[in-house]
Amino acid sequence: MSQKEFWNSKFSQEEFLYGKKPNTFLASKIKLLKKESELLCLGEGEGRNAIFFAKRGFKVSAFDASDIGLAKLDKKAQEEKLDIKTVCLDLNEWKSDKKYDVIVASYLHMYKDERIKLFEKIEDSLNPNAYFIGEFFSKKQLNFKSGGPKDEDLLYNVDDFNKNFLYCDKEVSEQEVILDEGKGHQGDASVIRVIIQKL
Ligand SMILES: C[S@@+](CC[C@H](N)C(=O)[O-])C[C@H]1O[C@@H](n2cnc3c(N)ncnc32)[C@H](O)[C@@H]1O
Repeated sequence: MSQKEFWNSKFSQEEFLYGKKPNTFLASKIKLLKKESELLCLGEGEGRNAIFFAKRGFKVSAFDASDIGLAKLDKKAQEEKLDIKTVCLDLNEWKSDKKYDVIVASYLHMYKDERIKLFEKIEDSLNPNAYFIGEFFSKKQLNFKSGGPKDEDLLYNVDDFNKNFLYCDKEVSEQEVILDEGKGHQGDASVIRVIIQKL
């Protein structure tokens, strides 16, 4: 099953699987970011982070493999009178030909060979001093029942980030947190949080 088929079936309910509030870690880092800057949300699904940042004056684009997730984002953006550019694509096919001031991702899980290429494209797409901020499940998440992939190869560790993003400052930590994000993420969880700044 492709990512598109898998995530379309998850997002085909009317409710928002991960709720409508942004990921709390991404939202808490807004103070690092310059308003009105170009912000890209990767693997953005139904759009909770995109809506949050667009409401606060960022110029937001959102990429995802699921057209059903992005249709929910487009509808919400229209209701809120926000201008958000959505692009339905598999990130393995993404050609990074534009630069951004901020790139964010929450719970975008890809296999090792795919994510190494994705991380290179993210680094290439950041302007000098721009940030990549993300939250992902760690391999320890297999011990919890609060959501996320059950396949260890899709889960991350701190080294996945520290061994990439060579020309960046990196703050990468593994943390135990309590998630309250819609039906999809509820309860104790182990996550990797990253704040990466291009030099
Ligand atoms: C767990 S959901 C998280 C959605 C959103 N970031 C959030 O936190 O609400 C994972 C998202 O990553 C997207 N995704 C996974 N692999 C992808 C790929 N190869 N290309 C594009 N999107 C992908 C899925 O379509 C899905 O929307």
